[in-house]
Amino acid sequence: MSEFEYAPELIKFSYFIAAILFIVGLRRMSAPGTAKGGIVWAGFGMVIATVVTFLTPGMENYWLILAALVSATVLAWVSGKKVAMTDMPQMVALYNGMGGGSAAFIGAMELYKATNGHQMSAIPTSLALIGVFIGAISLTGSLIAFGKLQGLIDKRYTFPGQNIFNGIFALAVIGFGIYTFTHMEAMNLWIFFGGALVLGFLMTLPIGGADMPVVISLYNAFTGLAVSFEGYVLGNWAMIVAGMLVGAAGTLLTQLMAKAMNRSIANVLFGSMGGDDSGGADGDQGEMKEIEGADAAIMMAYAERVVIVPGYGLAVAQAQHKLWEMTQLLTENGVDVKFAIHPVAGRMPGHMNVLLAEAGVPYDMIEDMEDINPQFKQTDVALVIGANDVVNPAARDDPSSSIYGMPILETDLAKNVIVIKRGRGTGFAGIQNGLFFKDNTKMLFGDAQDAISELITGLKEL
Ligand code: TAP
Repeated sequence: MSEFEYAPELIKFSYFIAAILFIVGLRRMSAPGTAKGGIVWAGFGMVIATVVTFLTPGMENYWLILAALVSATVLAWVSGKKVAMTDMPQMVALYNGMGGGSAAFIGAMELYKATNGHQMSAIPTSLALIGVFIGAISLTGSLIAFGKLQGLIDKRYTFPGQNIFNGIFALAVIGFGIYTFTHMEAMNLWIFFGGALVLGFLMTLPIGGADMPVVISLYNAFTGLAVSFEGYVLGNWAMIVAGMLVGAAGTLLTQLMAKAMNRSIANVLFGSMGGDDSGGADGDQGEMKEIEGADAAIMMAYAERVVIVPGYGLAVAQAQHKLWEMTQLLTENGVDVKFAIHPVAGRMPGHMNVLLAEAGVPYDMIEDMEDINPQFKQTDVALVIGANDVVNPAARDDPSSSIYGMPILETDLAKNVIVIKRGRGTGFAGIQNGLFFKDNTKMLFGDAQDAISELITGLKEL
């Protein structure tokens, strides 16, 4: 019998309240207006769950646990305050990996007790083993994802027959896990654990940087499942519920992101698209045509309809407040302005929504890709700010392009396109963009802050 069954009613009740807070928090995170509050609700649930866990009968090593809690809280607080919005995905990867690793170690320690004669029945043993397996993959896989997004690992490591090799290795580790189940010895356990850690490395090394967000989300789902399995082993309801929520949310997010990039999850894991392969329309595409800020301002001021497409560069320049100031000037001039959001614009899900919400852009001015795409043909000016891959027509037109099949915002169909970027650099996928060379496209070169300031000055002088 698990200790939990002897635990006071207070713990059960508190875990129940924590579970409700997690669910309400998640629900509130689904809309930009309530998202910040949602994080506080869920965080409060986590505080309750953590505090009451100290009341668990038979718990030992209070001071060690407290020391770990305090040092982790300080580290998380400092790094959370310091991290730039654009570095958020790698921070999520790192934290997620630590969650998976913790779940794997919890499972391994419970199993280790079993190797020393501690009774453990078949279901907890098998769940603990599965938790060790997926938690360990999530740990090393997330570390590689962190390294790739942080620019510490800048290549895809591939070799012929890699998928077959990885498949055989995965089967060998799973097979050894089954053997460990029937021969529960410390040595077997650590070999199995080590094999799963290596598998996480092997699975993630060949995947390119552009697919990392999907991979991180997938490992997030793995971590949730591992936590949930180990929660069952420990008889801890809070871990079971929180783990299941993370697992379900991670799975849904993975599917949504893969769909937004028009990839299957299998294709992300075993396919060849990467952040560092070029492919596609990289040849000579002609000249880019430049425009001055003042002329671009006139073009927009006399337009009936302007659609603004924000991308990663807007986040880098932190020009969202200036952009909103410019938008207000346009609407005062009677221009119909809309913002078009691509689901993977920027470097994390919802990145552009967060930026625009920060600047106070009303939600009714923001349109999703499916809704705005049919409207580009009637748009006088599409203003692309620091976006590149998400408006690259090669994804629609060029089967040889490495981003072929990813849905795009079809700005090239607008009557005029103005693109703000600093130079001729490529976007995240590392490929050239034919949009920038089209007859109806004009480039306003410069940092997004400066370029939008020029537009504001131009609009004020009209
Ligand atoms: P990108 O394709 O990365 O292009 C961003 C562009 O912004 C670059 O071409 C860059 O050109 C320009 N830029 C950078 N700093 C700037 C600044 N200060 N001022 C003005 N322009 C600046 O961005 P995107 O179109 O948003 O596409 C996102 C890409 O990231 C996709 O490939 C997506 O798959 C990938 N990704 C997405 C996520 C999520 S979940 N959103 C996470 C990781 C990766 P210059 O250097 O010439 O200025």
